[in-house]
Amino acid sequence: MNGSKWGGIAAFVCAGLVGASSVAVAQAKPQVTFAKDVAPILQRACQACHRPNNIAPMSLLTYEEARPWARSIRVKVAEREMPPWYIDRNVGVKKFDPDPSLSDAEIDTIVKWVDAGAPRGNPADMPPPRKFDDSDRWHIGEPDIIATLPKDVIVKAAAADQWMDVDMTHVDIPKDRYIKAVEVKPSKGPSVVHHAVASTYLEDDPEISKTLLVEYAVGKFGDIYPDGAARVLRANSKLSMNLHLHSIGEEIPANVVVGIKLYPEGYKPTFVETVTHVGDNEDLDIAPGDANARSEGYTVLTKPVRLTSFQPHLHNRGKAQCVEAIIPGAGIRPGIAKTQTISCVNRYRFNWHIVYHYTPDDQPLLPAGTMLKVTSWHDNTSANKFNPDPSNWAGFGQRSIDDMAFAWMTWYELTEDQYKEMVAERQRKTQAATQNQQQ
Ligand code: HEC
Repeated sequence: MNGSKWGGIAAFVCAGLVGASSVAVAQAKPQVTFAKDVAPILQRACQACHRPNNIAPMSLLTYEEARPWARSIRVKVAEREMPPWYIDRNVGVKKFDPDPSLSDAEIDTIVKWVDAGAPRGNPADMPPPRKFDDSDRWHIGEPDIIATLPKDVIVKAAAADQWMDVDMTHVDIPKDRYIKAVEVKPSKGPSVVHHAVASTYLEDDPEISKTLLVEYAVGKFGDIYPDGAARVLRANSKLSMNLHLHSIGEEIPANVVVGIKLYPEGYKPTFVETVTHVGDNEDLDIAPGDANARSEGYTVLTKPVRLTSFQPHLHNRGKAQCVEAIIPGAGIRPGIAKTQTISCVNRYRFNWHIVYHYTPDDQPLLPAGTMLKVTSWHDNTSANKFNPDPSNWAGFGQRSIDDMAFAWMTWYELTEDQYKEMVAERQRKTQAATQNQQQ
């Protein structure tokens, strides 16, 4: 209401100064409405989950569905709790694909809409409904290998959230092969599958060899590697699935399917993507009641790399994590290293498993000898709602009541020549962009 009063005065002043045409402009300053301004944002950033038969508790497809949630929507978007996206936006790499998060302008629009009483506006302004095209087809094309859970997991009508590792059906991989694309998705019960992360491992050495393969995230349809780039699938690999299942008031059978497309046998890719633990710290010392237990771990890059994604791995007490690159020989004086922040997740949420994929132009290029430093923070107080026992000391361990600290990172290993070429190409692009700006 204040807004329109001041708007009116501004219109009056303008009219006096520059004539009648600006009156029309100022008075026409439209109110923020659902149909025109809010619906497009919900379509892009919310509806993938907030629609029937998906993981969110309510649907936000229509005005009637969204209106009762207006207050709660305002709180969740203003606090950047929704959509789930917990990367620190102010440091390190800033561009991701996919990136469901809201811009400051979009948050402002939603806040203004709620504060104005959440008006519907003119139904004719509604965008056409978003079409969802997800579970019934492969987005990577027809896979060569398909694996599922050997039997459905029954999610009871009422039960605590469950986290579990389940071996997938056997796949026969007699020789090392290269992966062109990989996708995972719920094949049954999408409303109860909150996350599904597929890993590969070798039976002889399950602990050391376990490697993240692909994660299911609502709105993301698998990983397709650019031509010439690949992941390795080791001979005799087994597949295992880590699940987070969430009851929704009725008994639901759930299952998950992984599809893998291979390059032809004998194919040699130019770039091989490595997925690896970075900065493991197995000496965690998390005192009871400590709200900010800090630990560090380090990994040295033995070859130049192009970093493609980051996912913090902490257990229930996880609070935040940062990855920095300490780059040797990049300083002005001999012997001085340069530190570059790669990514920080400043509000780790144990129940959301988010992999942050960098856009190609923003994937950090790092020389051999770079030290990756991973700093993690754990909150062992009762203020952390996921904490199983704030009165106990916690250390490193496999059980979910123990804790962990490392980052999953993916990169392409580069030869020295490939690295130099990519750095030069980046410099050319940056120069071209700066020249464009100056013109
Ligand atoms: C990746 C899936 C996903 C996306 C995208 C998403 N949500 Fe949610 N949302 C959820 C889930 C699951 C919950 C319930 C559990 C939780 O809060 O973590 C939830 C909870 C909420 C709640 C609280 C509901 C309650 O019971 O109090 C609101 C409000 C909300 N979301 C709004 C939004 C809005 C607005 C957007 C888009 C700007 C959005 N969400 C995007 C999955 C999602």
